[in-house]
Amino acid sequence: MSQAESLFHAIPLAPPDPILGVTDAFNADTNPKKVNLGVGVYQDGQGRIPVLRSVREAEKRWFETENSKAYLPIDGLPAYRTGVQNLLFGTDHAVVKGGQVVTAQVLGGTGGLRMGADFLKRFAPASSEVFLSSPTWENHRAVFEAAGFKVNEYAYYDPETRGLAFGKMVASLRAMPKSSIVLLHACCHNPTGVDLDAGQWQELTGIFREQNLIPFLDLAYQGFAEGLDADAFAVRAFADAGIPMVISSSFSKSFSLYRERVGAVTLVTANADEAKRATSQLKRVIRSSYSNPSSHGAQVVALILTDAELRKAWELELGEMRERILRMRTLFVEKLAAKQAARDFSFVRKQRGMFSYSGLELPRVQRLRTEFGIYVVDSGRMCVAAMNEGNLDYITDSIAKVL
Ligand SMILES: Cc1ncc(COP(=O)(O)O)c(C=O)c1O
Repeated sequence: MSQAESLFHAIPLAPPDPILGVTDAFNADTNPKKVNLGVGVYQDGQGRIPVLRSVREAEKRWFETENSKAYLPIDGLPAYRTGVQNLLFGTDHAVVKGGQVVTAQVLGGTGGLRMGADFLKRFAPASSEVFLSSPTWENHRAVFEAAGFKVNEYAYYDPETRGLAFGKMVASLRAMPKSSIVLLHACCHNPTGVDLDAGQWQELTGIFREQNLIPFLDLAYQGFAEGLDADAFAVRAFADAGIPMVISSSFSKSFSLYRERVGAVTLVTANADEAKRATSQLKRVIRSSYSNPSSHGAQVVALILTDAELRKAWELELGEMRERILRMRTLFVEKLAAKQAARDFSFVRKQRGMFSYSGLELPRVQRLRTEFGIYVVDSGRMCVAAMNEGNLDYITDSIAKVL
């Protein structure tokens, strides 16, 4: 077939994914000391992406007991759905008891975002547009645009203070049209590591109610900031305030189950009747997308969440991951201070989750790459969870040099 005849001959080359591109460049680098801080995954003290012990044990049990490969229901495993709701709201929240909550098992947090977006595209007011924090996880815009939304931004990060621009954020929210959909990072903001505190979340619930805004909470790091309950504060604050919302959960990080694609989308409705109708429509959205979810990862998560022994083991491992990141934050700050780096990095200690917006400017990010083999995202985002006792001296020495 000649080129001109090919259906695909005029297809333009898509730009490479900015973050995966960093990893490609890292893989091609021959520097033996190279470090990839561009990734978005948790690594242990030896630089491995771990298979958690609790996961290994649950997989063994499941392997021995699985007796069918039948399809799962469109909205996934019932035990998994209950487990997700317990993580989000605790065991006896009024919205759960009142039958107001709808949860579907989906393909990762990305699946939760996309199914939630597709659902809102059908059932939110036709004029609703989406607002994302500036900056945000780079895939948010693509997901909501693919669902057919116009996507805008709201003020979030203040580069001067390297903290939250809360006043500007509130002003952005107050200026939004009614029924705008506002994507919020429930904890461990990606990429900045800068979160709202409890009082600020409370203030937000009041504004959302007054302005009739629709919260869409992205919870991809539950357990990585302070703990399972504390990290669900935002979800529970909106639920307590009686505000309908959409929540996307991801267990990629908290169970280190990246490739198993375990996530959920949850809708909080006004009453059980509304929930019943919303469930029927959410299932239609899923059915026309990928029909029904895959089994393995969700089965493992459901087993861990419902078995007291496995659950305890998992919470311990989750705590170890959280503590290790915190230790790396502290060591990073201390080592740079000891090297008399020309800049104060103490803000890194206050940021939460896997990432830190380092404030390193593009020319410095580029020097780190070319001269030292240290890969940070162009925006200056570093993955603190990729630091360990073996590479921190090299990382901090190199940063001190490019400053
Ligand atoms: C903020 C945020 N939301 C969603 C996701 C997607 O998670 P998953 O890999 O489970 O699709 C990520 C992953 O990095 C994330 O950082």
